[in-house]
Amino acid sequence: MSSTLQTPVSESTSSSRPRVGGATVRKARLPDAVNIFDLVNSLSGDGTLLRRNYAEICENVRDFAIAESEPGVFLGCGALHLYGPHLAEVRSIVVKPEAKAQGAGGKLLRALLEEAEEQKVSSVCLFTRIPDFFFHFNFRVVDRTTLPDKIYKDCQTCPRLYACDEVAMVRGPLPKIAVLGPSRIAQPELVKLQTGTITSGQ
Ligand SMILES: CC(C)(COP(=O)(O)OP(=O)(O)OC[C@H]1O[C@@H](n2cnc3c(N)ncnc32)[C@H](O)[C@@H]1OP(=O)(O)O)[C@@H](O)C(=O)NCCC(=O)NCCS
Repeated sequence: MSSTLQTPVSESTSSSRPRVGGATVRKARLPDAVNIFDLVNSLSGDGTLLRRNYAEICENVRDFAIAESEPGVFLGCGALHLYGPHLAEVRSIVVKPEAKAQGAGGKLLRALLEEAEEQKVSSVCLFTRIPDFFFHFNFRVVDRTTLPDKIYKDCQTCPRLYACDEVAMVRGPLPKIAVLGPSRIAQPELVKLQTGTITSGQ
């Protein structure tokens, strides 16, 4: 991932907002874990983002990218989870409320997509409530059952399993394989049917 993405973005018009114009994106490091934890979980209560615990963030900190302003102020984060060469997932992408709509989210997403390309991943997926944002980046809405790895990783244990209001999106071809879950579904026990004639009185 590039340490800096110099795509020009609009300047903030309010002096109370951080100046995102020169925002840079870099790989996260362990000291960023607290900021990631606070921001991601500030939006997990209403289901906007999946809750991530601190240990999980530390363990997967290398998945994360960080956006920060020129003076090094934390603005937001996003993660790219690798399932395998067939699929990666954009997770926990979020920008602080006061830094929104100034280009930082787009920079983060482009950096994650760039990393997916570097990893030679053919498809990138995500689940979201705001598909319009991701349409800007060539994601399309797909049937969630086309992403069994994601379902096995998160959905099975999600309290919103039967009330999910997110749409599944993919950029690139649909994955043809899955690596998570039971590799083979057990053959159901079939009751053997008796052949022959049933005669009355038996
Ligand atoms: C989604 C989010 C990360 C976007 O970050 P941002 O810094 O505000 O986005 P940007 O300013 O980089 O916008 C990039 C482009 O997407 C568009 N966009 C931004 N948010 C959008 C939204 N909610 N719906 C549709 N388009 C959106 C912008 O207009 C811009 O388009 P342009 O390039 O044509 O000007 C941010 O709004 C956020 O943190 N939301 C809450 C967390 C969340 O919902 N995350 C997604 C979970 S899957």
